[in-house]
Amino acid sequence: MVMITTEQLREKFLDFFKEKGHVILPSASLVPENDSSTLFISAGMQPLVPYLMGEPHPQGTKLADVQKCVRTGDIDEVGDAWHLTFFEMLGNWSLGDYWKKESLTWTWEFLTSPEWLGLDPKKLAVSVFAGNDTCPQDKESVEIWKSLGVPEERIAYLGVDDNWWPTGGKSTGPQGPDSEVFFWSSDDPVPDEFDPSDDRWTEIWNNVFMEYNRTSDGNLEPLKQKNVDTGMGLERTVAVLNNFKSVYETDAFDFIIDFLKEKFDLEELSSEDIRAVRVIADHLRASVFILGDDAGVVPSNVARGYILRRLIRRSIRYGRRYTQDKFVGSVAEIIIKRYSRVYEEIDRNKNKILSELDKEEDKFRKTLSTGLKVFKKIIIQPEVQESGMIDGQKTFDLFSTFGFPLEIVKDLARENSLRVDEEGFEKEFKRHQEKSRTASKGMFKGGLVDHSPQVIKMHTATHLLQQALRDVLGDHIHQKGSRITHEKLTFDFPHSEKLSDEEIKKVEDIVNEKILQDLPVHYEIMTPQEAKKSGAIGVFDERYDKQVKVYFIGDYSKEICGGPHVKSTKEVGKFKILKEKSVGSGIRRIEATVE
Ligand code: SER
Repeated sequence: MVMITTEQLREKFLDFFKEKGHVILPSASLVPENDSSTLFISAGMQPLVPYLMGEPHPQGTKLADVQKCVRTGDIDEVGDAWHLTFFEMLGNWSLGDYWKKESLTWTWEFLTSPEWLGLDPKKLAVSVFAGNDTCPQDKESVEIWKSLGVPEERIAYLGVDDNWWPTGGKSTGPQGPDSEVFFWSSDDPVPDEFDPSDDRWTEIWNNVFMEYNRTSDGNLEPLKQKNVDTGMGLERTVAVLNNFKSVYETDAFDFIIDFLKEKFDLEELSSEDIRAVRVIADHLRASVFILGDDAGVVPSNVARGYILRRLIRRSIRYGRRYTQDKFVGSVAEIIIKRYSRVYEEIDRNKNKILSELDKEEDKFRKTLSTGLKVFKKIIIQPEVQESGMIDGQKTFDLFSTFGFPLEIVKDLARENSLRVDEEGFEKEFKRHQEKSRTASKGMFKGGLVDHSPQVIKMHTATHLLQQALRDVLGDHIHQKGSRITHEKLTFDFPHSEKLSDEEIKKVEDIVNEKILQDLPVHYEIMTPQEAKKSGAIGVFDERYDKQVKVYFIGDYSKEICGGPHVKSTKEVGKFKILKEKSVGSGIRRIEATVE
C-alpha cells in the first residue's frame, strides 16, 4: 500500500506551514533572476537569497513554497535509482523571524503527528553540526531534539561536509550549520543506534540555520538577521517514506514509466531497459518544465538551451532502441496533463512545449542514423581499440557534425566498453564556443548568488537602462532577460531593428545623466494592481504574489523587483554600453558595464 504520494505530501506540507502562519509563495521561475551563479534554480532558497541577506520580503518573514529545481551536475548519473535532473523542493523559511526551537519543533510535529505524516519516531534519527574552528557545535539543536524525545543514540555529530549548507562550507553567500532528519527506509529491524554511514538511513529533511554570510575573501560574517531555510526533496522523500527502491516508483514517475512500457512494447525489463525508460522519463519531465517555464528557454547550443537540448536528444537516442517513430510528443502530453493541475504555466505553455519538442526531435532524427554509423566506424579504429578511449576531437566532431551531446557519446561508449576523453572534449568545446558564448565566465563557478557591491551597482544600472531604452525607443521595450556578473550586465528586449549608433549613445547619455543627478533609490510594497496603476514596469501576469516590491529611482524609474539596489545613483559610477546585437528573432541584447 502506498503510504503517501507526491500530490499528498506537497499539499500537506503547504497546509501545515500555512497553519503555522506562513505565506505560501508560488514557485519562482526555473531561470534565476539577477543571479548568474547557476544556469537553473537548484534549491528552494536560491530565489530568496536577497531576503536571506536582509532585504525585506513583501510577503513577510514566514514563507513556504514548492520550488521547481533543475540540477545538471550529474546528468549522466540519471538512470540509477535516485538521481534526477528536475525535482520539486518543499521548503519553509524564517527571514529573521523564528529560530531553531520553532523550526525543529515544527519539523518533528509535521513528521510524527498522526494528523500530518504520522511517521513512527522510532524510525527517525537526526544529525547536527559537530563544530569546527569557525563555528561551535550546535548544542542548541541537540537540546531541542532531546526535548522532543530524540534519544542521544539517534543523534549524530557531523562536520561541514554533512551538516553545513551549502555543503563543504566554501561557497560565498548566506549559509550556516544545518540539522538533518533521517528515515529508516528498509524492512530490516531498526537499530537503536543511528549510524549515518548506513544507507538504509536516508535523509529526508534539512533545516539550515543561516546566520552567516561568507564574503568573497572567504571570511564568515554574521548576517543582518538569523534565518531558517529548510528543504525537502519531494520525489525522493516520497520514495523513501514508501520504502521504494527508486524515485521512479513514485506517482511522479510511475505513469510515465507505464506509458513507455506500453509504447515500447516492453514486458520483462532488462537492466538496460530500466535505465533507458528512467532516462527518458526524467529527461522529458525536465524538458517539459524548462520549456513550460515563462522564461522562454528553447533548445540551442549555449547555456540553458544546450542543457535542454542534451536532455531531449539523450531521451530520443534511448527511445530509438525501441521505436523508429517519433515518440517525444506523446510522452510530453501525459506529463503536461498531469502537471498542469499544479503548475498553471505548464498548461498555458502547452503548445509551445509540444512544438519545440517536435522541432528538436525532427532536427536530431535527421542526423542521428548517420551519426550512429560514423560512431560504429570510429570504434573499430585501431587507436580507439588500443587505448579503449574515444578522444576529445572525435567526440567533439560527433557533437558538431551530428549534434551528439557528450552524454550520448558516453552512453554509446559505455555500451561498447569504451571510455571518452571528457577533458579533451571540454577543451575542444570551449575553444569553439568562446566566440558565440553568451554564458558568462562566472556562471559555473558554483556558490550562491553574488550580491557584491559591483553586482548591486550593475543591477541598479539595469533599471536605468530599461527606462532609458523606453525613452529612446518606445514603451514596447521590456525586459526579456537580464544577467549580471562582475564584468558586465546583459539586457534583452524586444525590438525589430538594430539600434543606430546615435540611439545607443543617447541611451548611454541618459543613464549617465541620471547617475550624475544622484537620484535616491527606495522601494515600496504594494499590490500588483497598485503597482500597475503607478506605472511600474513589470510583467503583470499570474506570476506575482499578493504583494510586490516596487523600486523607485527618483521619479525616473519604477520597476517591480526584489532588489537589492544602491541607495542613490551616484554610487553606480560611470555607465558604458559595450555592445548591441541580435539574439534571435526580434530580440536585441545590450551588454554594458559600470566603472
Ligand atoms: N538549502 C538547503 C538544501 O537545499 C535547505 O533548503 O538542502
